[in-house]
Amino acid sequence: MSQRVVFLLIALLIQSSFLFEISSALKEGKTCILSKNCDAGLHCETCIANNNLRPRCSRTQPINPISKVKGLPFNKYSWLTTHNSFARLGAISKTGSVILAPTNQQDTVTSQLNNGVRGFMLDMYDFENDVWLCHSLDGICFNFTAFQPAINVLREIQVFLEKNREEVVTIIIEDYVKSPKGLTKVFDTAGLRKLMFPVTRMPKNGGDWPTLDDMVRQNQRLLVFTSDRRKEATEGIAYQWNYMVENQYGNGGLKAGVCPNRAQSAGMSDKSKSLVLVNHFPDAPDLVVACKQNSAALLESIKACYQAAGQRWPNYIAVDFYKRSDGGGAPQAVDVANGNLICGCDNFAACQENGKCG
Ligand SMILES: *[C@@H]1O[C@H](CO)[C@@H](O)[C@H](O)[C@H]1NC(C)=O
Repeated sequence: MSQRVVFLLIALLIQSSFLFEISSALKEGKTCILSKNCDAGLHCETCIANNNLRPRCSRTQPINPISKVKGLPFNKYSWLTTHNSFARLGAISKTGSVILAPTNQQDTVTSQLNNGVRGFMLDMYDFENDVWLCHSLDGICFNFTAFQPAINVLREIQVFLEKNREEVVTIIIEDYVKSPKGLTKVFDTAGLRKLMFPVTRMPKNGGDWPTLDDMVRQNQRLLVFTSDRRKEATEGIAYQWNYMVENQYGNGGLKAGVCPNRAQSAGMSDKSKSLVLVNHFPDAPDLVVACKQNSAALLESIKACYQAAGQRWPNYIAVDFYKRSDGGGAPQAVDVANGNLICGCDNFAACQENGKCG
C-alpha cells in the first residue's frame, strides 16, 4: 500500500471512532471536541490556567433543587449567582458605542436562566432618562460603559418567570438610581412588580423564610434587594444587608481559608440575617483564570464561609464566567451547598425526594 492509502485509512479510522463517540453523548470529564458532543448541562472546554489542556465535558448547570425538594424555607436552598450578569463578553453598548468596561459573563441572562442561574447581580444607573445596566465609577454612566436599558434584562426575567411557574429568582442591585421611584417604574414596566416578594414577609430577626412552595403558591417569586438603604422606606424594596450577610468581594474574597465580611454587611456570623451570600471572583474579571478560580478554590471558599457564617452554607454563590471550570465548577459548588442544606449530604446528587441522603 502506498503511504497515501495508509494515511487515508488511518484518517478514516480516527474519524469513525470520533463519530462513534459523538453519536453517544459524553459524560462529565470525557474528552470532547465540541460542546454538542457532551451530555445536556455540560460543555466542552479546557482549563489552561490549571494546566489542563485536554478539552473535557464540564458542568454548566447545577442540579435544580426544586426537582426533588420544594417544601423547605427559602433560606435552606442555594442558588447559582452571576456577578455583573449583564456584562457580557463581546456585547456592544445599546448606545452604539464600543464598551470599554470589563465583562464578567459569556452568555445572555436568558441563557443563564436556562442553565439554572437564579441570582443576578445588576448595577443600575440613571442614564438617558431611563435606568440602564452599566459598569462605571462614581455612579456615573457613560456611553462606553453602558450595556443596555435595564428593562431589556428585566423582561427576560419576566418571560422566564411566566413560563416557569415554580421558579424563584433573586435580583441584587448595586443601586445608583437617584431618579424618584426610578426602580419602581422600571420593575412595573417590566411586569415584575406583581411578582415581587413583599418586604413585609421577609424575616427581620433571623427567622426562617417562607417555604419555596409557599412563595410559588402566592406567586411571590421574585426577590429584589437594593444596596440603597433608603429605598426600603421610599419604594418598599428590601435593603440587602437587612436580610443577608455577604463576604468581601474581589481579590479580598479570594484569600484561602478566610471569609471576611464585606464592609456594608454585618459580620458573617450575624444570624439575625437569614441569608448568606458568598462572592468568589477577582477585582478584574479574567476569562482565562476563571476556570481555576471557579473550581477547587471555590469549594474551599464556601467551606471557609460556612465556618465564618456560624456553620451556614451559602444561599447564593456568586462568580464571574460561571460556565468556566476545571470540571464541576460553580454548578458543583451549588450542588455541594444544596446537598448540605437540604439533606445533609455532601452533594445534592445524593439527595432523595424525602430529604434524606441516598
Ligand atoms: C451616547 O449615546 C446616545 C444614544 O444612546 C447618543 O445620542 C449620544 O450622542 C452619545 N454620546 C456620545 C458622547 O457619543
